[in-house]
Formats: sequence, structure tokens, C-alpha cells
Amino acid sequence: MKRREFLGAAIASLAASCRTPLPEDAKDRRVRIGEVRRLVVERHEPLAGRCRYVAETAAGRVAQPVLLARRGERFTGAIVNALPQPTTVHFHGLTLPEAQDGAGFDSIAPGAVKTLAFEVHNRSGLYWFHPHAHGFTAEQVHAGLAGLLVVTDEDDAALDAALALPQGNRLALALSDVRTAEGTIQPYAPSEEDCLHGWLGDRALANGALDFRAAVAPGWVRLQILNTCNARGLLLAFRQGGKLVPFHVLGTDGGLLAAPVEVQSAFLHSAERLDIALPAQGDIEALSLPFDPRHHAHGKAPSHVHALRSGYAPLAGGAICGNSPPGAPHDGAEMPLFRLDVKGGKASMPAIPPRLSTLSPADFADAPVRRMRLDFDERTGFVIDQTPYRRDELAFSVPRGSREVWQIRNSPISMPHPMHLHGFGFRVLRRQGTFGPAQRLAAHSGARLASDLGVKDTVLLWPNETLWLGVDFALPGGAAFAGSQRYMFHCHNLEHEDGMMMRNFEVV
Ligand code: C2O
Ligand code: CU
Ligand code: CU
Repeated sequence: MKRREFLGAAIASLAASCRTPLPEDAKDRRVRIGEVRRLVVERHEPLAGRCRYVAETAAGRVAQPVLLARRGERFTGAIVNALPQPTTVHFHGLTLPEAQDGAGFDSIAPGAVKTLAFEVHNRSGLYWFHPHAHGFTAEQVHAGLAGLLVVTDEDDAALDAALALPQGNRLALALSDVRTAEGTIQPYAPSEEDCLHGWLGDRALANGALDFRAAVAPGWVRLQILNTCNARGLLLAFRQGGKLVPFHVLGTDGGLLAAPVEVQSAFLHSAERLDIALPAQGDIEALSLPFDPRHHAHGKAPSHVHALRSGYAPLAGGAICGNSPPGAPHDGAEMPLFRLDVKGGKASMPAIPPRLSTLSPADFADAPVRRMRLDFDERTGFVIDQTPYRRDELAFSVPRGSREVWQIRNSPISMPHPMHLHGFGFRVLRRQGTFGPAQRLAAHSGARLASDLGVKDTVLLWPNETLWLGVDFALPGGAAFAGSQRYMFHCHNLEHEDGMMMRNFEVV
């Protein structure tokens, strides 16, 4: 087929599939990754600019699917871009060959189709997929394009069995924030100030819904929670009858911890995940506790976004990086997140196993140290090593299979930056200079928080902090990729990412 015909056919079949009614329910949105034939990216509410993923399988269409994969399962399907803007589908946290990773080197034009085929090599855990077309990422993720991918393996199954989880007591949740007026979600229209500090909403969505509630049975509830807010950090806690309910951290971005850790609250910043066990004995409200957000960078910086977006309108006609309206929501404000209605008889709550994972940690004692700095200045905005993003730049190269310690310093005149590494998990080895709201939680060796104790792909640096990360460039699960490959390291505050706080590097 010639390209023209192919595109025509793709659009015709897209139009045909739009007439097929959705299976009525959004209750069971789980779809096995191996069954997805096409993943359509579409704008379904043009007025507010809301968008969604639709998975098409032999059995029908599921909007905003939660993809399930066993370790070793394959995805072979087509991404169909039905948006009026370029997009990509980046599988955040997975280790994939460059052509499958959707990292934004090649975006999919409006109306175009891209075929992907890959195997899931990573450990069990909550991963996710979202757009990564540079300059459009913040707007598209905010519009609702943040899909969950739950990977399972033997460790994961053993944990569920040990917790004796009642039916329905395991939930995967994507949390985000939106601006509302009279209960209606407003379009994305960040001011200049929002483009510098990040877009914040006044209300939380859980799995796309305001005032989300789920019914669970008494007993353990296992929650895998992702923060997909463009910029808002969450200090996650649970309240029952006015009192905080302690919970157990079981895992982080890249899978289960060695051992569970009990906490009262835990930070969950943009793109981070927590896997937790919560004792449910009465109705529970999940919230973000108030904290000092430590925004220490003031002033203005030019916006780079306009140039990247030239020729494409916003999803809902709002201006991007325009004039500041008064009264924008604040970072660190208390915010209700979702509720669990606990219904039923008596609970069985077996002890949580003392050992959760069979993964042995890598040793970084002799690994070479690579130093980086996060800075702010009024000419460039927030940058890594004084260098705004350039698509064709490669900041450094790393030999495949090696280990490195990344020593990253966030300047004191700064704000919190959730830094994300593509393709490889890392360990937080040590924090230094932590102060303020995180210091109280830094109760583990190396001034680490409970949420630092597992495999991570995104980690927060507070202003003035230095972190030492142990990065393992070995491929997981027997994966074998040939040749060199480009990866990205960037801030996952999405206005910072689109604002050039990102660099490419290669693994050779
Ligand atoms: Cu969640 Cu570079 O992405
Ligand atoms: Cu990523
Ligand atoms: Cu940032």
C-alpha cells in the first residue's frame, strides 16, 4: 500500500471504529496488553479539551484502559493518533528499544499510525504510558492521557496470596489535579507563572473522576498509586474518623521493596508510584496533607513552548503561557484525593510477609561518579547543567551494563524537581541537605525516606538537596538490545519538561 492509501485506510477504519459503541461500563477497564490491537489516542470532549486512550481488542473497545502484563508478555499493536496535535506513547519505567519507547525523538503526526512490538522485561509494579511529544507533553497529560500498566510476576502473586486480599481490594489509581469552576473541569490554559512553576489544579481526580470512591471489603487493601499531576506534589495519608491510619509501603516505581515499611504519610511527586497495604476496617478518606512546598525561585523566565508548538492549536483554545489570572491554586495545600467505602463482615488480616522481593541490590561501591546540577536563571528558566534541551544533543555516553553513581545537586534558589530517568531503574543511596517537610520523614540510612528504599525511576530533589543515585545500566529480565540507544533524563514537572529541563544521553 502506498503511504496515501495507507493513511486513508487507517482513517476510514478509525471512523468506523468510532461508531462501535463502547462496552457500557467503565468498571472493568482492565485489558491484557497482549490483546490490544490498536491503541487510539483521541480528544473526546473538545470544549474542555479532554482526551483519552481507547484500547481496541477482538472483544471490543475500552476507554482509558488499565493494561495488564505478566513479565515476558508481548505488545504488538498500532498506535493511532486521532488528536489534532503530534503525540507519542511513552511507556514510563519500562526498558525498551528506542523505536518502541515513545520518548519523543519521533512523534506521530495527527492522523498517522505507528506500529509497536515489544516484550515487557521489567519486574512487577505499576508502570504507565503517556504522551512525550516535546512541547505538547504537559497539555496532553493534563487532558487525561495517562494510562496505567500493571506488571505482575511471581513476587507479586506471592504477596497477594499472603495478604489474603478480598475480591476487589486491589486497586490501581492514577491521581491528577484539575482546575474547576462550578464542578466543571476547565481547559488547560497555563499562565506565564504556571509555565515557570508548573500547572496546579484545585481538585483531585482519581482515575479521571472527581470525588472518586471505591467499595472495598474489610481486610487489607493493596493500592498501587501513581501521581500524574503536571506539577503537584502529594503528601499521601489516610484518615478514618479524624485519625491518620498508618499504612505499609510495599513497593516504589520499579517494584517491591525488600521488606515492608510502616509509615503515617509518604510523599508522592509527579510520576512517582507507591504500592501500599492499608488496613481497612471502616470508611477511609485519602488525602494530601498540607506541607511547605519550598518554591524558592522567583522572577520570570522566557517560555520556549511557543516555538515548539507553532502550527498547532491548543486542545481547547486556552492560551499557553499567557497572562496570569489571579488566585491560582497553591502547591502543598491540603487536598482530598479519594474515598474507600468499607462494607462487609469481619476482616482477616494476616501479617505482611517480612520479605517481599527476591531481587538482590546491586553494589555501587566502585562505580564512577557523574555530577550534575539543577539550576535556575532568568534567561533559561530551570535547566540541567546550565543547558536547555536540544533534540540533537547527547550530553554524555554510558557503556551498556555498567553502573554509575549520579550525584545531583539542586541549587538553593530553586524548587522541588521530580527527576526522571528513562529506561533504567536506580537506587537512592543518600540524601544530603534535606530540610523542611521531607526531613521529618528521612528516617532511614543515608537520610532516605521510606519511599526511597526501592527501585526508582523518578525521584524528588528539594531545593538545596544533593542526592546520590546508584544507576544500573544492565538490561532487566534477560533483555538483549543491540547497538547504542538514546535515553532522556528530565524533570517530570511537565511544564519544566516542556520548558527544556531535559537532556539526552546515550548508552553504547
Ligand atoms: Cu514519564 Cu520522559 O517521561
Ligand atoms: Cu519515562
Ligand atoms: Cu522541575
